Amino acid sequence: MLRRLHPDQPDSFAFTPANRAWAEAQITKYPEGRQASAIIPLLWRAQEQEGWLTRPAIEYVADMLDMAYIRALEVATFYFMFQLQPVGSVAHLQICGTTSCMICGAEDLVAVCKDKIAANAHELSADGKFSWEEVECLGACANAPMAQIGKDYYEDLTAEKLAWIIDEMAAGRVPTPGPQNGRYASEPANGLTSLTEHEAGRDPLNASARLAADIGDTIKRIDGTEVPLLAPWGKQSGRDVDVEPTPKKPVLAEDVPADETGIDKREAAVQGTAHPASGAPAAAAEAEGAADRPEEQPELLSGPREGGADDLKRISGVGPKLEGVLNELGFYHFDQIAAWTPEQIAWVDNRLKFKGRIERDDWIAQARALAAEG
Ligand code: FES
Repeated sequence: MLRRLHPDQPDSFAFTPANRAWAEAQITKYPEGRQASAIIPLLWRAQEQEGWLTRPAIEYVADMLDMAYIRALEVATFYFMFQLQPVGSVAHLQICGTTSCMICGAEDLVAVCKDKIAANAHELSADGKFSWEEVECLGACANAPMAQIGKDYYEDLTAEKLAWIIDEMAAGRVPTPGPQNGRYASEPANGLTSLTEHEAGRDPLNASARLAADIGDTIKRIDGTEVPLLAPWGKQSGRDVDVEPTPKKPVLAEDVPADETGIDKREAAVQGTAHPASGAPAAAAEAEGAADRPEEQPELLSGPREGGADDLKRISGVGPKLEGVLNELGFYHFDQIAAWTPEQIAWVDNRLKFKGRIERDDWIAQARALAAEG
């Protein structure tokens, strides 16, 4: 199946302020220079906000993560959980059509969708409220046939029950997720045959259904106000999240030699000696990290030289946004970057959003190689 961007796209996308804060907190989960790892939760949040993933949303997330647009598009178009076309304003129904559900009546559920929503998957209903698709196994086979509607599972469905659920949702009500035939979970349809005492006095809803009912956002768009914004990995109080990435210095393992000479960088820093075998700058400065070094402004250009700017995005770790920042600072060519001294790296580093990236991704060596290519 081809997954393409929808031909009709909105002009722009922006996270709500609360979702933006949530997204920035997610990014701080990942090590410096690895912010791209946050792409799936951020794309998912964008989809939860809008219902589907628009091109502006994908590019917005790519910009936040300093990724090339094509990288973000690759992710968005690969995973079927991302909807690349408008979905129903109330709900998008995902009917499981895999073996267990198929033999238990999934085709009847699809027939309901065709009848009540639209003849074809991914088409909007006439009133724009619903859309549907058939999906692969959703892992609830013991409660087949089932469907995911919005964020929750509706299990043990019949055609009549699904039609009723759609009608309820159209009327602004949200039936409780979980088994729809009276089952508690996935016990035998006629009830427990052992440990029957567990049926006495329990919550009529199993834990998952109870949680879904309590949260109450089954088909609600997410705007950041409905669930606590948690960022336990950062400074947090109430709904405030620490959205500023905290630069971390690498911690050297104790007593681990840096190389065959047996001296480690920590010792070299204490001794104030350059590493004899590396030819690198003074080990003391190296161990400090660029952020703590004295800085010196490299030579800047007011524009690219004749022949045009180099494609700085060829340096791993430099995306379109970072290339723009480098150009604004006055760097257009690989040989400029290749010539940076440690003090000049510190100067540039202090002007980038994510510090430490130059040395971590070894821009200097990359730039040298690219400059040598001509
Ligand atoms: S076959 Fe439908 S949930 Fe597994």
